[in-house]
Amino acid sequence: MTVNEAVPRGEGAPFTPRPVKAGADDPVEVRMTVNGTPTALSLPARVTLADALRDHLGLTGTHVGCEHGVCGMCTVLVDGEAARACLLFAVQLDGADIVTVEGLGRPDALHPLQESFGRHHALQCGFCTPGFLMSSYDLLTNQPDVTEEELPEELSGVICRCTGYRNILTAVDETRRAHPGGVPAPGNCGRTALVGRAGQGTDATDGPDETENAASSGTQDIVLPGGDPTIAMRITTAIDLPEDRVWGVLDDIHLLARCLPGAELTDDYGHGHYAGRARVSVGPVKLTFNGVAQILEHDRAAGRLRAIAQGQDTGGAQTQADITLTTEATEAGTTMHADAKVYLTGRIAQFGRALAGDVSRRMFEQFADAVTEAAASGRAPSGPVKAPSALSLVFAPLLDRVKRLLRRGGRRRRGGREKEH
Ligand code: FES
Ligand code: FES
Repeated sequence: MTVNEAVPRGEGAPFTPRPVKAGADDPVEVRMTVNGTPTALSLPARVTLADALRDHLGLTGTHVGCEHGVCGMCTVLVDGEAARACLLFAVQLDGADIVTVEGLGRPDALHPLQESFGRHHALQCGFCTPGFLMSSYDLLTNQPDVTEEELPEELSGVICRCTGYRNILTAVDETRRAHPGGVPAPGNCGRTALVGRAGQGTDATDGPDETENAASSGTQDIVLPGGDPTIAMRITTAIDLPEDRVWGVLDDIHLLARCLPGAELTDDYGHGHYAGRARVSVGPVKLTFNGVAQILEHDRAAGRLRAIAQGQDTGGAQTQADITLTTEATEAGTTMHADAKVYLTGRIAQFGRALAGDVSRRMFEQFADAVTEAAASGRAPSGPVKAPSALSLVFAPLLDRVKRLLRRGGRRRRGGREKEH
């Protein structure tokens, strides 16, 4: 098939899709910057931008309704202009700069439009919300002097099935009044790992050949997002064993991996690069992450081990982590600190910071317990260390309380017996 006429793209000129001559299923290389991340894809010519974003880059915030350019649900910014992602072939967009609703704001620092939509209850099912947000962002950026009376017509390109237009218009109008000179730029455009169901979306910085080779050898660079982590935590564990015994576990990556809840090491690529799998369940949702990890620092003398990892599940959930373990010798044995920064995107982010934080904290506590057990026995923990479930998190405080009471009861009974003697 042939898409589009050949039109050269000049500096500062409005975006013009590149001409591509290819069979519908022929793979075509395309490089785009998506929400600030350079990405290189090899896609069949028939894949639309909407499908490339959703299936190949895991950015499911771009919704698809009619696939005919009518409903506006799929609106994104292409080189700063609103465009229907269902009407563009991704392979036409070589060199384009794309911003999706994920790039508009961060969960902890929403864009003013998102704040206003929330404040005015401008969504019911939320299916049209990404389209409305991106269209109104485009409108208020390119036409900040738009009047309140003009808003219904200007935004009529997006259709809300729930017909909640009144509150949507109120939210856009409030943002327009608060930012008469144009709304702030998208606030979540920084480098991040983009991986979708199709497992594509390599970071394009080093060129396609290098990234392809690196991916096949498992040694691709892990790119941590630039912004604040979704969860940051420090877990400190007192281990009543000498530091040497603890490092007996930390030095043995296979033993260490057995201590990670729900995780298994599947490949050792050498030079501190590994592949693995981790299972996490939150309520009825079960996620299996396949990913890679890299040891950046392994310094027994300084008592420091640092690793970074990234993984994705088939539904587009992504997680990245930066973990540092430090140990100090104490009179009673060893103190181990686990400092972790965890970044979550995609389906997993919907669980909210609090629940995801509880799951992560519980996993690190289980990990520290397993390291203690392995350091004591010199062997991997007896059973597989299971990832925590939402149910176990609900009962964990209760079980801890019962254990504390039993311990206290035991101490009292022993104290009583000692007094009797
Ligand atoms: S899905 Fe693109 S306009 Fe409807
Ligand atoms: S809020 Fe449901 S489609 Fe608009």
